[in-house]
Amino acid sequence: MDEFIAALDEKDLKEGSMKKVSVEGIPVLFIKQFGQIFAIDNRCPHMGCGFSGGTLDGAGIICPCHDWRFNLRTGEFEDDPTIKLVKFEYKIESGKIYLKLPDDK
Ligand code: FES
Repeated sequence: MDEFIAALDEKDLKEGSMKKVSVEGIPVLFIKQFGQIFAIDNRCPHMGCGFSGGTLDGAGIICPCHDWRFNLRTGEFEDDPTIKLVKFEYKIESGKIYLKLPDDK
């Protein structure tokens, strides 16, 4: 799927916060941290818990279920970098954030 889908107004994502949305049935979590926006799959790669119930910790996010900490920039689980959360590509146009879902969503 090559198209970008309107997902969120940029103004609704405040610094240091998270916003959960559903895009074509996929649970997506937008995060704004240090002025940078991240768009990730809200399901933890460990056992699927929602990151939206977790904690932002500097450049990381901590899953609420078993406290696994992932680096938002690389997506890597800090104790085992072979395990990564899913990050989505996005673009911002006219104040809206558009998300690109992967082909194998
Ligand atoms: S489900 Fe996220 S750490 Fe276990």
